[in-house]
Amino acid sequence: MQPSDKQLNILIKKIKELLNERDIVQDQDIIAPHLLDWVGYAKGSSPLMLTPRSTDQVAKIVEICSNENISIVPQGGNTGSVASGIPNGEVILSLTKMNSIRNLNPDDYTITVDAGCILNQVQEAADNASRLFPLSIGSEGSCTIGGNISTNAGGISVLKYGNMRDLVLGIEVVLPNGSILNSLKRLRKDNTGYAIKHLFMGAEGTLGIITAASLRLFPKIENKATAFASIADLSCTTKLLENLRYFTGDLLTSYELIPDIGLEIATAFGDNITEPLSERNKWNVIIELSDTKNDNKAYNLLEDALQNSIEKGIVIDAVIANSISQTNNIWKIRKAIVENQPKLGGEIKHDVSVPISSVPDFINAAGEKLGKYLPNIRPVPYGHIGDGNIHYNVCPPIGFPENEFKERANAIRDIVYKIVNDFGGSFAAEHGVGIVKKNQMIQYKDQVELQLMKDLKRFMDPKNILNPGKIF
Ligand code: FAD
Ligand code: MLT
Ligand code: ZN
Repeated sequence: MQPSDKQLNILIKKIKELLNERDIVQDQDIIAPHLLDWVGYAKGSSPLMLTPRSTDQVAKIVEICSNENISIVPQGGNTGSVASGIPNGEVILSLTKMNSIRNLNPDDYTITVDAGCILNQVQEAADNASRLFPLSIGSEGSCTIGGNISTNAGGISVLKYGNMRDLVLGIEVVLPNGSILNSLKRLRKDNTGYAIKHLFMGAEGTLGIITAASLRLFPKIENKATAFASIADLSCTTKLLENLRYFTGDLLTSYELIPDIGLEIATAFGDNITEPLSERNKWNVIIELSDTKNDNKAYNLLEDALQNSIEKGIVIDAVIANSISQTNNIWKIRKAIVENQPKLGGEIKHDVSVPISSVPDFINAAGEKLGKYLPNIRPVPYGHIGDGNIHYNVCPPIGFPENEFKERANAIRDIVYKIVNDFGGSFAAEHGVGIVKKNQMIQYKDQVELQLMKDLKRFMDPKNILNPGKIF
């Protein structure tokens, strides 16, 4: 909700005693990019954006806003996929000027960073110390650690390293009344009662403003082996994954589904992309192994696994990249699908998960139901199937009017989410709920769990100061 002019004037007067002028932004031209999300779900509004540079400043801003009953939307890189960082009249609190690496301890395998650090910056700092920070997502050049924690980001390395939640050791958070919770511990073990830090992970900025985090690091990766493989049919995704695990153990890092329509999108609209195999097949996967030793082990194990999978009839054809440019070409296919899918006349996005073994049946069932609903509809299921997460995006039949397709969005969503639910899956696997999936929260979330979440929000933020209207 937008503050009244009177509230705003009081706020700005008090904030001027706290921040310097350039961190108090009222110029709507500067605020404008912070009011739109990249998917196009929301067009927000805000009279004011604040860009604090320290945790104390954040705490004082929140305290003032709480006293004056003014709501705040925390924002990082604004790359979120469910419009959870877009204000609806509220004040924006942008963390991007809090971007220092506070501490890196190679012996502890930890790094402590401000929440506004860009993910890339943290990856590079770790790399420079011969360590790895493994979170890897397409937006890593602009998303922030605070946003990654608040959305519990996933990406292409979850199979090996887990979601963001698994990478956070401790956090510093400003609570809705302005107090600072300092839990920046660098410990692997700390069983001192409730794991409160986890409440803020995936909370989409509704329970606190994360100002810093201590993160886990891993040994630096010195060698990768990347392959593109066509599989005989969808059921082979599970068989191939099992075979890869058997042959390559914990070197397996990424296992991403690419359908034939994904190759079509990538080659039609992507930047200088070559199809990795001589024939295009319906179902394909990108496989990546990563190793701390710079030798041929990863390549050889991948070769053995693929050879064995071809002999078993699981894989039709496969290629292992022999150069950096071949590796880049394979990953460019994956990236191009995300960027160019809207060019197929509109897309309806579903970021869902099912148990890993149900991925093939889910994709088949959803395709069948949607085909009956609208013949020649074009599902584009792709992504992180190694951890059961499918980006089940749907495009219209060729030539179908985009506006008419958008009018069918709710019906299409209902079909997909119903099947996801039948498979015991989640309607929000890695991008969160935001403003986009509030209806599904009512429809599919366990009612006792949902009530507990609402009670918790009311308890921690009784004045509904932080990111109102999101999730619920
Ligand atoms: P924002 O968009 O600014 O905010 C997201 C949410 O977090 C909002 O609710 C906001 O209020 C809250 N928030 C932000 N900072 C803080 C803070 N310091 N304290 C409290 N709350 C805060 N996501 C994946 O999980 N996996 C992917 O593979 C993936 N790929 C992507 C590829 C592309 C090309 C793009 C554009 C996005 C992708 N995303 C992916 C989505 C997005 O990048 C992630 O959700 C990311 O974690 C958001 O970070 P951000 O800093 O941009 O957060
Ligand atoms: C990805 O895996 O590339 C993204 O999660 C896709 C998206 O954000 O839509
Ligand atoms: Zn994803």
